[in-house]
Amino acid sequence: MKTPLKNVCVNILLLTSFSLLTAQSLAADDIEHLTSSCTACHGENGVAVVKEWPSLAGQKPGYLLAQLKAFKNGSRENVLMSGLLTNFSEQDLLKIADYYASLPFEKARSASINKAGENVRANCISCHGMTGQTINDTWPNLAGQNKEYLLQQLKDFTSNKRHSIIMNVIASELDEQQMQDVAEYYEQIGTIQ
Ligand code: HEC
Ligand code: HEC
Repeated sequence: MKTPLKNVCVNILLLTSFSLLTAQSLAADDIEHLTSSCTACHGENGVAVVKEWPSLAGQKPGYLLAQLKAFKNGSRENVLMSGLLTNFSEQDLLKIADYYASLPFEKARSASINKAGENVRANCISCHGMTGQTINDTWPNLAGQNKEYLLQQLKDFTSNKRHSIIMNVIASELDEQQMQDVAEYYEQIGTIQ
């Protein structure tokens, strides 16, 4: 019996959407699996559960990838992160970076803003942007990030525990008070300004 053309078309359509759906849910399973050990600290939505730890949602993908590689090869060290990524391939790290970068990060601007911190950030705008969001894919956004985390990073850059040719110099030009002020400023401005 001849199959009407209409039926063939419907079948093709159904098959195509089925395989698209399968591909999508496989990808979702994959990223869920890859990030299953991360959520305990970086949150289900990439928003850190503890204020000393960094949120990853909405962070720049190139920057995230570079940090993941640095933790993996040991050039950036942290007791909680080091060793965690040993079994991840480069492709896995790329997927993880893209995934966290794609998550929305929404934090309202605080009612009060640290004015001394606002003055310090004059030295940061050229790279971290007017609103704490970089124009460059490989440099980190600071807007809305936890101030305790930001402060610790500035101290780690100063002491050379964390290595960055640029930030080692810039951080060491700040005194402790300026670091505290600018870290607080960046948290307070949030991502919705
Ligand atoms: C036990 C808690 C913990 C777990 C689990 C964890 N992290 Fe982290 N992560 C941290 C801490 C703490 C830092 C900050 C490290 C530092 O101070 O240098 C961090 C930093 C990072 C950074 C750098 C962020 C930035 O702004 O520079 C990335 C990226 C990251 N983690 C990704 C991951 C991924 C991906 C996983 C899962 C495979 C994961 N983390 C699991 C605690 C954790
Ligand atoms: C010339 C460009 C440049 C300037 C100016 C600059 N930064 Fe950075 N900053 C960077 C780059 C690049 C990184 C990523 C470093 C790395 O690869 O680990 C970074 C990283 C950081 C981090 C770590 C973010 C994270 O998620 O871990 C903090 C905090 C930071 N900068 C604060 C500042 C502050 C505060 C100022 C101003 C006083 C400043 N930066 C000025 C380029 C710059």
